[in-house]
Amino acid sequence: MNLTLKVWRQNGPQDKGRIETYPAAGIPEHCSFLEMLDIVNEKIINDGGEPIHFDHDCREGICGMCSLTINGVPHGQERGTTTCQVHMRKFRDGDTIWIEPFRAHAFPVIRDLIVDRNAFDRIVAAGGYIDVRTGSAVDANAIPIKKDDAESAFDAAACIGCGACVAACPNASAMLFVSAKVSHLAHLPQGQPEREKRALAMVRQMDSEGFGNCTNHYECEAACPKEISVDHIALLNRDYSKAVLAEQFV
Ligand code: FES
Repeated sequence: MNLTLKVWRQNGPQDKGRIETYPAAGIPEHCSFLEMLDIVNEKIINDGGEPIHFDHDCREGICGMCSLTINGVPHGQERGTTTCQVHMRKFRDGDTIWIEPFRAHAFPVIRDLIVDRNAFDRIVAAGGYIDVRTGSAVDANAIPIKKDDAESAFDAAACIGCGACVAACPNASAMLFVSAKVSHLAHLPQGQPEREKRALAMVRQMDSEGFGNCTNHYECEAACPKEISVDHIALLNRDYSKAVLAEQFV
C-alpha cells in the first residue's frame, strides 16, 4: 500500500507544533498501524531526519500506552480497538491519514504524538485503591458476590487508562475513566468502607487537574477501546452526591 501521512510534529511542550507530510510507501496491508509508523520512521532515520515520536508498550491492547488520534478519532474509527490493534488492511491504497496526539488541556504534549497522562495517575493516587488491610488471599467462594455485581466490576476494571475518553469528549472530561475506577471497587465488598470518600477524592482531583465536566455527549463510550459504558458515570454521580451531602452533615 502507498499512503500519505499528515503527522503532528511538536518539538516540546512550548513549541507551537505543525502538521508535516510523509509518504508511507510499500506498507504491507497486514502490518499494524504502529508497525506502519516504524517503517516510516526507519526511512526518516535513514534520510537523516528526526523520527516521529509516539507512545507504545505492549502493542496488544492491554497497557493503554498507545494514544493516537487517527483521522480525528482517538484510536481510529474501529470500535473497541486500541491504536496498536488497528491494522493497515482497514485503509485503502492511496489514502491520506491524519495522525495527531490525544488533545486535552490536562494532557500536555511532551513531543510529537506523546502526551503527558500523569494526571490519571494522580487521580488514582487520590483514592482509586483499597486502604484496609486485606491479609492474604481468601478462598474465592468465601465472599459471595452477586453475578451482576461481579460482571459490572469486571467490565469497569477493563479500563486501561489510555485517555481516549478524554480526547473524544468535547469537554475533555475524565468522567468515564474516573467512573470506571470508582465503579470497579464500588461493586465489590472490599470497596465499600471507603466508597464515598473515594468518589469525593477522585472527582476533586479530576477537577483540580483541569478536566472538563460531563454533559452527556457519550463520545467517551464510543471511543473507549474497552467499550466501557457511561452507566458507570451514573454510579459515580450518585456516590459523589451522597458523599457531598454526608460531608455537610458531619
Ligand atoms: S501499546 Fe499497549 S494498548 Fe496499545
